[in-house]
Amino acid sequence: MADFHPRVFSGVQPTGNLHLGNYLGAITKFVALQKTHECLYCVVDLHAITVPQDPAELKASIRKVTAAYLAAGIDAKKQIVFNQSQVAAHAELAWILNCVARLGWLNRMTQFKEKAGKDRENVSVGLYDYPVLMAADILAYQATHVPVGEDQKQHLELARDIAQKFNLDFAASIAALGLGDAFFPLPEPLIQGPATRVMSLRDGTKKMSKSDPSDYSRINLDDDADLIAQKIRKAKTDPEALPSEVEGLAGRPELDNLVGIFAAVNDETKAQVLQAFGGANFSTFKTALVDLLVAKLAPIGAEMSRLAKDEAFIDGVLADGAARARAIAAPVVTAVKDIVGFVR
Ligand code: TRP
Repeated sequence: MADFHPRVFSGVQPTGNLHLGNYLGAITKFVALQKTHECLYCVVDLHAITVPQDPAELKASIRKVTAAYLAAGIDAKKQIVFNQSQVAAHAELAWILNCVARLGWLNRMTQFKEKAGKDRENVSVGLYDYPVLMAADILAYQATHVPVGEDQKQHLELARDIAQKFNLDFAASIAALGLGDAFFPLPEPLIQGPATRVMSLRDGTKKMSKSDPSDYSRINLDDDADLIAQKIRKAKTDPEALPSEVEGLAGRPELDNLVGIFAAVNDETKAQVLQAFGGANFSTFKTALVDLLVAKLAPIGAEMSRLAKDEAFIDGVLADGAARARAIAAPVVTAVKDIVGFVR
């Protein structure tokens, strides 16, 4: 297959509060990738409205996620930070890809089944079509690498299937236009390992989630030092001391989670954390964890809140990002129109 210019694309939905799981699982990965790759980081507002959103809250969330990207260290001058709805190519390409994707493929999407639950007849058509829009997000930029969580792996596979079917169905047209032997790259997932999967502070077997009714289940990026301390102090634990080996974490999901958080935030392994804290009781470890989170996370949260309030600045970043995103996506969409046989 043709050689494609390496390009990273990823997105975060502007819904609810960003928490430690989003930060460690996604945003820090985005920050690291900008050293080696050209990156587009999108606030996927079109995806957000696949379920009902309050308009005023949606607007605030779009600015908050943008502020979080910037506060975490994404360089919006070098990389492209933008919101999806400002670039028409996403919706335009999604329609064409809707005609490539097969109903049977979408019927297999487990996230739709989970989100729709028993209310299948009553969810939006957009929720069903969500993965095709996600494929359009990626393919509009001919992106080659996509950092995502484990839960998005199936959607990425679908994006690859759509890209491949498009390349095959239109192979003759692509060749006739002199566009080589494949128009879309097959985007590679960069899956975050279980090491950075952050679990609920109340139940170590459930993912930390913005939809958990208990705010004590998560650390939000904009929690202040006092709230972080309270939440960690109240976090569920067991009565035993900390083990000195990683094997000792088996069957202790809450402890495993807290040790994992410590390791990820301090950029070390769980083994290193346990070397330092093996034999310690929980209150010693929790105090150290609070100190660490307050030192590393609270400044980012404070910067995020400060930036999110500066609407003119954030909106300027998004407008600039959208203009640069359009410049990449527009020729791709134009070529797709030529490939499928539209007159323009
Ligand atoms: N569905 C992704 C999530 O919920 C967000 C997303 C939308 C995305 N479009 C994308 C991620 C494109 C990667 C690439 O996490």
